[in-house]
Amino acid sequence: MSDSSPITIRPMKIEDVNDVVQIDQLSFVLPWPERSFRYEINQNQASRHWVAEISGENGPRIVAMLVCWVILDEAHIGTIAVHPDYRRLKIGERLLNYAFAVLAGEGILSVFLEVRRSNEAARTLYRKLGFTEDGVRKRYYKDNYEDAILMHLENPGSFANKESSDGSI
Ligand SMILES: CC(C)(COP(=O)(O)OP(=O)(O)OC[C@H]1O[C@@H](n2cnc3c(N)ncnc32)[C@H](O)[C@@H]1OP(=O)(O)O)[C@@H](O)C(=O)NCCC(=O)NCCS
Repeated sequence: MSDSSPITIRPMKIEDVNDVVQIDQLSFVLPWPERSFRYEINQNQASRHWVAEISGENGPRIVAMLVCWVILDEAHIGTIAVHPDYRRLKIGERLLNYAFAVLAGEGILSVFLEVRRSNEAARTLYRKLGFTEDGVRKRYYKDNYEDAILMHLENPGSFANKESSDGSI
């Protein structure tokens, strides 16, 4: 697979939860419980959630996921992860740009997130997409009391012009 391989981005469905949980567990020290993803899909009206799929010999494979929440004209990224076998292929960047296009279409003006201080991959990705680092939540993460860096992006739509929002990119 290369940077330009076709991927499809579509809303996360309840049938995706097993694959999504696997990616989450491979990606985070403190993964979400499965019920949290079920809640996001089935109950949380503020939730927006997508997966990225590639097509393979055995059918489509989910390789990334993103969950965020919208409140008035703001969005907060709850989680984003790319399967470890598919990193550095611009999938994270494409998934975020896709989300920004959809969110901008909903009238979202700002996007917020927290990221571990040591997570250089994610911080570099967010800076590349226009996020700025605005503050620190000291000792925020419960496993090692690492600081969270607070980041935000204004006008997500202006960074989303590379991707169409119909899911095929
Ligand atoms: C962070 C993460 C989502 C990035 O996804 P990805 O698909 O591998 O990233 P992309 O290929 O889209 O990278 C886009 C840009 O991000 C930056 N980047 C991504 N991974 C990087 C790394 N390991 N080191 C440095 N920069 C990196 C680069 O600027 C890259 O652009 P380039 O390829 O032109 O140099 C992925 O590493 C991941 O799932 N990590 C574990 C979960 C996680 O930390 N999520 C974020 C929580 S806040």
